[in-house]
Amino acid sequence: MRKIYVFDTTLRDGEQSPGVNLNTREKVEIAHQLERLGIDRMEAGFPAASPGDLAAVNAVAKAVKNITVIGLSRSREQDIDAVREALKGAQDPCIHVFLATSPIHRQHKLRMDKGQVLDTARSAIRYAKKSFSKIEFSLEDAGRTEYDFLVEMVNMAVEEGASVVNIPDTVGYLSPYEYGNIFKHLKENVHGIEKVQLSAHCHNDLGMATANTLAAILNGADQIEGTINGIGERAGNTAIEEIAMALETRQEFFKAKTSLQLSEIARTSRLVSRLTGMVVPGNKAIVGANAFAHESGIHQDGMLKEKTTYEIMTPETIGLKESKLVLGKHSGRHAFRERLIELGYELEDEALNRAFAQFKDLADKKKEVTDEDLLAVIEEKLQDA
Ligand code: KIV
Ligand code: ZN
Repeated sequence: MRKIYVFDTTLRDGEQSPGVNLNTREKVEIAHQLERLGIDRMEAGFPAASPGDLAAVNAVAKAVKNITVIGLSRSREQDIDAVREALKGAQDPCIHVFLATSPIHRQHKLRMDKGQVLDTARSAIRYAKKSFSKIEFSLEDAGRTEYDFLVEMVNMAVEEGASVVNIPDTVGYLSPYEYGNIFKHLKENVHGIEKVQLSAHCHNDLGMATANTLAAILNGADQIEGTINGIGERAGNTAIEEIAMALETRQEFFKAKTSLQLSEIARTSRLVSRLTGMVVPGNKAIVGANAFAHESGIHQDGMLKEKTTYEIMTPETIGLKESKLVLGKHSGRHAFRERLIELGYELEDEALNRAFAQFKDLADKKKEVTDEDLLAVIEEKLQDA
C-alpha cells in the first residue's frame, strides 16, 4: 500500500483563520497531540511574521521529536534567516519557501514577469540550501498558473535540489478533475520529477478541498497538506481527518494510506477546537457531533439490527466510545424501547405504548429528548399505574 505523507499546517495555515491566535504554550500542547496522532511533518508557524511566532516555532521545534518541523518563509533572505533561527534545536528541520506563480499574482501582487519569478525563487532556494538540507518549495496559486510555467518552475525547483514541491490551490478554485490533472501533467513533463515528492495543498472555498486532495493522490501526490478540523484562511484547508478516513474506509479504491493513529483523531479535534476557539459544526464529516448520531426511526432501527446499514466507519476507529441514537420526533419505538432498557426500564407492551405516545408529544416540542426527559416520562407513568 502506497504511503501518503501527512504535512500538518494547523499551527500555520490553521492559525491564519480569522480570529485565531495561539500562544507558545498552546502551540506546544497541540504539537504534542499531533505527534501522538502520528503526522509526518508539522508546519509550526511563520517565524518572520512576528517575534512571538518565531519564539513559538522554536519552542515547538525543541519540544517534539521524531517529526519534521517546518517553518514558512517568503522568497526573501530575512525570512529564511528567521526560519533558521526558529528551527534551532529541531531534530529534523525543514524550510518551506514559497512564491506566487499565477498571472494574477505576478501582475498585481508581485509586479514581476515570469523570468523574475523564476529567478527570485531560484535565488531563495539557493540561499535556503546554505542552511537547510530539507526544503519544500511552494508555487503559491499554482491552481491558476499556466501549465507551461508550472513545468518550468517545478523543473527549476528539482534542479535546485528541493525535497518537496507543493502545488497549492491557494484560493480553492479548481475542481477535482482539474487539480488531479496538474499532478498528472507534472509527472509526465518534469524532468527528474522522481527526485522530489509532490505535495497537495488545497483550500475549501468551493467545498472541494478534500475531493481535490484525493484527486491529487490518485494522480501521484506523495504528500498531503491540511489542518485538523479543516481550519484555515477563509473557508479553511483540507481536513486531515477526512483524508485519513477516506483512505482508510476506501482502501480498495485509493490503494494508499497514511501512518496516522486514527484512534487519536477525536481527541486531536477536540483539543484544536478548544484552543483555537473554532467550534466544529455538528455535521462536519468525521469529527462533528452528528457524524455518528442517528435520529430517524428507520435509521435507528437499521442501526439496532446491523450497524453497517447506516455507518461506513466505526466511531471506535477515531477514538469515540460509540454511535449515538438521538431521540427526537423522527425516532421510532425500537430505539425508544432500547434506550429505556439501557436506563433500567423494561416495560410491558401496553405501558410501552403509553410512554411512547407521551414521548412523541414531548418530541414535537423539543429538538432532542434527553435521558432526563425520558426518566421524567417513565416516573410519571409508573406513578399513574
Ligand atoms: O495556500 C497557499 O498557497 C499557502 C502557501 C503559503 C503554501 O498556504
Ligand atoms: Zn494555504
